[in-house]
Amino acid sequence: MKRFIALMLGIAILLMFVGIYAQDSGKEFKYIGVKKCKMCHKSKKSGNQFGLWQEKAHSKAYETLASEQSKKVAKEVGVTGDPQQAAECLVCHVTAYDVAAELKEKTLTMEEGVSCESCHGPGSEYKSMKTMKALYAGEIKDETVGLVEPTEEVCVQCHNEKSPTYKPFVYEEAVKKIAHPVPEK
Ligand code: HEC
Ligand code: HEC
Ligand code: HEC
Ligand code: HEC
Repeated sequence: MKRFIALMLGIAILLMFVGIYAQDSGKEFKYIGVKKCKMCHKSKKSGNQFGLWQEKAHSKAYETLASEQSKKVAKEVGVTGDPQQAAECLVCHVTAYDVAAELKEKTLTMEEGVSCESCHGPGSEYKSMKTMKALYAGEIKDETVGLVEPTEEVCVQCHNEKSPTYKPFVYEEAVKKIAHPVPEK
């Protein structure tokens, strides 16, 4: 009898852990695309992060793959066919290429290239005004809603020697070139 109780208790504890695990992994953060961020991040008052991104290289990363230079680069590394359709190039030239399709909303497009969520993480759970303000005020933890802190580790997922045109990446300098701060109020 004692053994039976111990067994049942063991099973109950096991089920509890399975339950906790299922609950945790049930939280799925999805990529929603730059247009969803644009509406709140394009005014001068907010720091116009959208406008600043749009002027710079990351927003053109997919377009770049259509250039003559890209075709040359592709050939040099033995990638045949259109670079805009080659996984070997798209992994670093569009947002969330390697991410499972069910974690990407249709509003995320390849055309937007390397967009906000490439560095800040999938936005489905943090995009509401209430959540954004609470995050900014430090009232909720980034990771509970999928927001990622854009550190050097995030950059070097793409800025590394696997890039056929790799230029040495100096984080401190690079991050200044893409700065888009919220103005002090
Ligand atoms: C409904 C409006 C709204 C939307 C949509 C929105 N944001 Fe925000 N976001 C804000 C506000 C408000 C702040 C606080 C800063 C401020 O007052 O400008 C903020 C802050 C942030 C911060 C700074 C957070 C921190 O803790 O420092 C990041 C990063 C950010 N947003 C990225 C995004 C990205 C990426 C998207 C799209 C996936 C997005 N936001 C969509 C309104 C929004
Ligand atoms: C998803 C991949 C990816 C991530 C993550 C990424 N980048 Fe990039 N970055 C690119 C690509 C691709 C280009 C080239 C785009 C083009 O020219 O079409 C680029 C270009 C740049 C450029 C312009 C290069 C130049 O000198 O002309 C700067 C600066 C830069 N990135 C900084 C950063 C920083 C800082 C981070 C991290 C906070 C970062 N990048 C994260 C893919 C990425
Ligand atoms: C490991 C990530 C990565 C892969 C894979 C990658 N790129 Fe890039 N690409 C980058 C980054 C980062 C930059 C910007 C800075 C640099 O060149 O290091 C860039 C820049 C470029 C540029 C602009 C170079 C310039 O001088 O302005 C071209 C063209 C390009 N890539 C084409 C391609 C093609 C074609 C492929 C596929 C055969 C490819 N890339 C694969 C990350 C990558
Ligand atoms: C290539 C990576 C990259 C991309 C793309 C990118 N960001 Fe950022 N973002 C950063 C980095 C790095 C910081 C600085 C983080 C810090 O100061 O700790 C930052 C900071 C921010 C902040 C907070 C500024 C502050 O003063 O606290 C906001 C808001 C923001 N980004 C919104 C956006 C939005 C919206 C987009 C798309 C339109 C975007 N970012 C695209 C890397 C990126």
